[in-house]
Amino acid sequence: MRLDKYIAQTTDLSRALVKLALRNKRVQVNGQQVKDASLNLSPADTVQLDGETLRPAGPRYFMLHKPAGYLCATTDSHHPTVLDLLDEPNLHSLQIAGRLDLDTTGLVLITDDGQWNHRVTSPRRECQKTYHVKLATDLICDAEEKLQSGIQLHSEKQLTRPARLERLGSNEVRLTISEGKYHQVKRMFAALDNRVIELHRERIGGITLDDALQAGDYRPLSETEINSIE
Ligand code: URA
Repeated sequence: MRLDKYIAQTTDLSRALVKLALRNKRVQVNGQQVKDASLNLSPADTVQLDGETLRPAGPRYFMLHKPAGYLCATTDSHHPTVLDLLDEPNLHSLQIAGRLDLDTTGLVLITDDGQWNHRVTSPRRECQKTYHVKLATDLICDAEEKLQSGIQLHSEKQLTRPARLERLGSNEVRLTISEGKYHQVKRMFAALDNRVIELHRERIGGITLDDALQAGDYRPLSETEINSIE
């Protein structure tokens, strides 16, 4: 791997700042000062920045309790993003595994393991997601059957995949779906002549939002949680 890429990956520095660090003689490879950003590193090489040895971070996996008002994006000029809630190095290498709308709260998974992210989000994997939903009005009585047999969403070619509904009150439900189209849950209830007024994600596959996490808090996933995504 190129030296500048390695430094960018193991620190929070942008490529531009890496170049500056090299020019300012802050980088050593195997104890020798190096300025050449394109130097090709071998696995045995030791890289130091300001005398600190840089080590590649292992893959990281977090669950975050997303508050409303935070965007599931890596950067945005108008809103704070979920990454602003993480106190971690190398934020630029983290990816959000399945986005929530700005006003939706609940479970968000964040990782720098691209393959794991793909397993969570690929439509072909049909990873289940469960949402707690508050509705504007009482839900129609045959909603279960309609959701089970599939709903025609506006401007979609295919019906939604079978979804499971649990009624918690006349206008409060738990919905489990196995796909993640844009605004999917809101559009599903709109197709049932209703409107979502609160949406909270409780579960993705075998990973349930930890009750101990307040909105805005996060924690690393356990091995069991990581491995539950097949
Ligand atoms: N479905 C929605 O409509 N919004 C979300 O944030 C997640 C699922």
